[in-house]
Order: sequence, then structure tokens, then C-alpha cells
Amino acid sequence: MGNRQSNLEELQKLRESIEMMEELLDNAYYGMVLVDTEGYIVKWNYEKLLGISEKEVLGKHVKDVIPNTRLHIVAKTGVKELCDIQEIHGKKVITSRIPIIKGGKSLGAAGTVLFSDISELQALAKKVQILEDTLNKYKGEVSKLYQARFTFDDIVSNNLKMIELKTIAKRVAKTNSTVLIQGESGTGKELFAHAIHRESLRKYGNFVSVNCAAIPKELLESELFGYEEGAFTGSKKGGKMGKFELAIGGTIFLDEIGSMPLDMQSKILRVLEMKEFERVGGNKPIKLDTRIIAATNENLEEEIVKGNFRKDLYYRLNIIKLEIPPLRERIEDVEILSKNILIKLALDLNMKEKTLTKDAVEALKNYHWPGNIRELRNVLERAVNLTSKPVIEIKDLPDSFKDKLPIKKGDVKSHSLKEKLEEFEKDILKKAIEEAGGNKTLAAQHLKIHRTSLYKKLEKYRMTEYM
Ligand SMILES: Nc1ncnc2c1ncn2[C@@H]1O[C@H](COP(=O)(O)OP(=O)(O)OP(=O)(O)O)[C@@H](O)[C@H]1O
Ligand SMILES: [Mg+2]
Repeated sequence: MGNRQSNLEELQKLRESIEMMEELLDNAYYGMVLVDTEGYIVKWNYEKLLGISEKEVLGKHVKDVIPNTRLHIVAKTGVKELCDIQEIHGKKVITSRIPIIKGGKSLGAAGTVLFSDISELQALAKKVQILEDTLNKYKGEVSKLYQARFTFDDIVSNNLKMIELKTIAKRVAKTNSTVLIQGESGTGKELFAHAIHRESLRKYGNFVSVNCAAIPKELLESELFGYEEGAFTGSKKGGKMGKFELAIGGTIFLDEIGSMPLDMQSKILRVLEMKEFERVGGNKPIKLDTRIIAATNENLEEEIVKGNFRKDLYYRLNIIKLEIPPLRERIEDVEILSKNILIKLALDLNMKEKTLTKDAVEALKNYHWPGNIRELRNVLERAVNLTSKPVIEIKDLPDSFKDKLPIKKGDVKSHSLKEKLEEFEKDILKKAIEEAGGNKTLAAQHLKIHRTSLYKKLEKYRMTEYM
């Protein structure tokens, strides 16, 4: 009795699971057909696809219903055929033929159709491809645009002040404090900003750079804070994210902050004080979760006096100030910077690294570098391109370096006129004797001096090789 009961229950369960499978098959595929080992149809679900009902075909051979089918073959061989393109009643479809194997023996085969028409799939594939391409393009652009490229290792220097500056910057990087970087053009302000971001806990966030001098005044606000759809005529559908929003969780670098218009300065000040901002035309405050680094090559204290920069904003920004010394105040860096730049240039230009002659290094060191390291880089890049030789000489440098010829060792001591005249006299004696083929009498005649006088001079200058 109990046995019979459990058999019934099992049968019930089996029926339920078959129903579930049928339900699943009905919905998972566009169509499906099941045949036995001989190829006779046991289940038919192609009504949607072909307009033929199951009743009409049950028990028929599959070949008689789908002329070019291979399902009966798969049922025999037990070898599956996946994703084949087949034409059924004038429609190209994608079919798979799967043998049903039990105990190593084929019991039949199932044919499935995934798409009613291959063009549907092609269109879909194309759409996916386009989406993928677009996504990759934007991914690439976003990561390129908003990534810090330099670390503290890229800032090379042997100068004590610079080494100290790097130490302070590294320490500050770990905090959330606002940093103000001041320094002449080309001293490496941007390099420091990148390095601070990379050293910070926000390094996985974006590093968003804004050149306050390059964005037109009218656009600055929407560039910084973004805007809501319909904020103004021509505004984009869905609005636009601003730089502050892009920098959430990361760092915003306000470069050339000295060029920021006064009214924008007020807005920035308010954002820094409230620690939140809104999109233009929006009313949802967005939390300011962004580290701020500002840079300028202007003397902001002077700009405050002139009325071009807000004092209160200056105090807000001036929490940690990094003042980068100009290159002329760290001339000892010229050599190591040049070496570093030449290595990078060689990599960029895919050529062997070039070196500088001692004289060329001296000439570079004697220059005043108004354009700082950027100028040094330009001078070296020009020289690398100008010479095909592996060493860069003074003649490969711009004209302004030609008169920067290093003073020779002997010259250093001979400052006085007397010493200079003596050097000159020595040169003349040397030339005269050489021109006379070593004949000192002849040389004395040419110089219109007495022979003994010539000897005296040679003795005086210890020019023993001519005596
Ligand atoms: N210490 C350094 N070591 C190596 N390269 C440096 C260093 N400082 C600056 N550079 C290089 O010099 C160039 C100028 O640097 P950067 O752009 O950071 O200057 P900047 O201070 O931002 O100038 P600007 O005020 O004109 O924007 C860059 O090519 C940078 O890689
Ligand atoms: Mg810069």
C-alpha cells in the first residue's frame, strides 16, 4: 500500500517536472522538435516558426516535414551539430541538433531554433558590436582623460629644497587637504599635482584637470559644475556632468587658478565652504567629496593687491603651499634632468639614448632658463633631432647657448689684464716658432725682436719644448 502510494507520488513529481521542462523549452527557444532514433517526430514546437501544429506532424518522419533536415542523422550518429545555418521553408534560421544519449546509446535527437530569422541575429550582433566599440572608445577616453600619469619617481632632483618639497608633498598626499602649488611656468607644477593624486588614498578615483585659463568665461561654470537638461537653450538631453562631479572620489586639479574670473572665484569659494555644489539649473546639492589641488604661476599675493584675486579664496586654497623653485635656482638639477629627459626622448622617438658632451652640460648650466624644465626639454628634443651622432655637442644647441662656452681651466685663474696679455703673448710666440719651422732666429726676425729677447720670453713662460 505504502509502496503504491510512493509510486504515485513519484509519478506525480515526474509529470510536474516534465511539464516544467516543456514550459521551459516552449519559452527558451523560438522552436524545437524532438525525434526518436529513427527520425520520427515525438514532440513538435515549430508552430510559431512554420505555422504547422503538433497534431499534424506527430509520428511523421522529420524529413517529410523539413526537407533538408539532418536531425535523423544526428539521432543515429549521436554527434551534435551546434549553431548551423539552415533554410527552413524559405527562412534562414540558426539551428542546433543535439543527440539524446543514455547509457552510451542514442535515444533520439532534439532540434532547436534560436532565432526565427538570421537577419534578426545579424542585426543584433551588429548592434552589440557598435555598442561595444562605443563603450571601448569612451572607456579609453575616460581613462586617458582622467588618469594621473606621473608619480613622485618622475620628479627627479638633487636639489635640497626640491627633495624637501617632495617629502612634504608625499606626506600631504595621504591627507585630504587642499594644496596650492606655486611656481614659474614649466617648473613641474602639473607633475606634482599628478604625483600627489597617485600617492593619495584617492588614487583609484579620477584625476580631473581643469585649465581655468583655457575655458571661456561663459562656459566655466557649466564645465565645472555641469548642468541639468533644459538649463539653457542648446543644453544636452539628460544634462551634463561637470568636472567637480567627475572628480568625486578623486582629485580635481584647478590649473592656472590665477586666471579665474572674479565671479567664478566667489562660486568656488562658496563650494569650498559649503562642501557641496549644484549643477547649473539644478536643485539637488551634490556632496563635494573631492581633493582640490590648485596651481598658478602668478604671485597670488600680488594679484590680491591688484584686486584680481579674492583674498578669502586665497586663504581657503592656501592650506598647504608648495613653492617650486625655478630651474636657475637649482642649476645642479640641469644634468640629472637632462639625462632623465634624454632617456624619455629616446623611448618616445624609438632610438638609442643620446648623451651630452661635458662642454654642452656646462653650456646648459650657464643658461638662465626662463622657461624652466619645459624649455630644457625643448632644447634637448631639438638637439636630439638635429644630430645623427650619439653625443650632443654645443653646436647642436640653439644660438643662445653658443656664448655660454665654458671658461677653460687656465682662464679661470687669469682674470687680470696682465695675465690675459701674457696668454696672448705665449700664443704668438708659439705660432711664430712653428711657422718658422722651429728656427728661432727666423721667428725672432718675423716678430721684429732680438733673438735673446725671444729666449728670455720662452724661459719666462717655461716653454721648454721650444727652447
Ligand atoms: N622634476 C622634474 N623631473 C622631470 N621632468 C620634469 C620635472 N619637472 C618638470 N618636468 C617636465 O617639464 C615639463 C613641464 O612641467 P609641467 O607641465 O608640470 O610644468 P608647469 O609648472 O605645470 O608649467 P605651466 O605653468 O607652464 O603649466 C613637463 O614635460 C614635465 O614632464
Ligand atoms: Mg601646468
